[in-house]
Amino acid sequence: MAALTEVSLDIREGEKVAIMGPSGSGKTTLLSILGCLDRPTRGEHLFEGRSVAELDDDTLSRLRNRAIGFVFQSFHLLPHLSVAENVETPLQYGERPMREWRPRALEALGRVGLAARADHRPSELSGGEAQRAAIARALVVEPRLLLADEPTGNLDTATGGEIAALLDELHAQGSTVVLVTHNEPLARRAERLVTLRDGRIEGETRP
Ligand SMILES: Nc1ncnc2c1ncn2[C@@H]1O[C@H](COP(=O)(O)OP(=O)(O)O)[C@@H](O)[C@H]1O
Ligand SMILES: [Mg+2]
Repeated sequence: MAALTEVSLDIREGEKVAIMGPSGSGKTTLLSILGCLDRPTRGEHLFEGRSVAELDDDTLSRLRNRAIGFVFQSFHLLPHLSVAENVETPLQYGERPMREWRPRALEALGRVGLAARADHRPSELSGGEAQRAAIARALVVEPRLLLADEPTGNLDTATGGEIAALLDELHAQGSTVVLVTHNEPLARRAERLVTLRDGRIEGETRP
């Protein structure tokens, strides 16, 4: 069975789009395609007008590393690195000189309100702080597209609300944000709300 079928979706620069749908409906698969981590077996995915299937490996990995930031439900921080070192990791795959890594990581941590935790280990952070660190890591390359897969799924309501407010703030500052969530109030804060069911787009509203 196909994870996605007949999905036609156009995300515009600067938009905030929420994706909802039951478990197994294809939300993560869709986000993986938008993030150029996965390719559709049929159909086409254009990123900034270019067909992703036609990009060579170097161009594709540069695009993934520098244009797209990913945030996950379970943070995915590396436990043996400090918060600042975690935030620096995407820069190690880029072209920025090493002397810029730490200042850029600290700046990204400042944007998410976590500068004071730079030298801590992930295990010393609360869930909300860990997600802020993960968002800083996504932001450190100044991505043109920010993708978040259930970023508040492991957080209590109040902390989830803070993360949602942070995503709103980043969107207001110009980021294009695509957010998968089970939380309807959170989804309704987006400009567009796309609902998936059984791998198809069931509907789209402008909340
Ligand atoms: N790597 C994979 N290989 C094959 N099938 C997969 C893979 N990942 C997910 N699926 C299937 O694709 C469908 C959509 O999964 P997913 O995108 O993870 O849904 P959601 O994020 O909405 O829960 C499900 O039926 C799932 O079992
Ligand atoms: Mg999923």
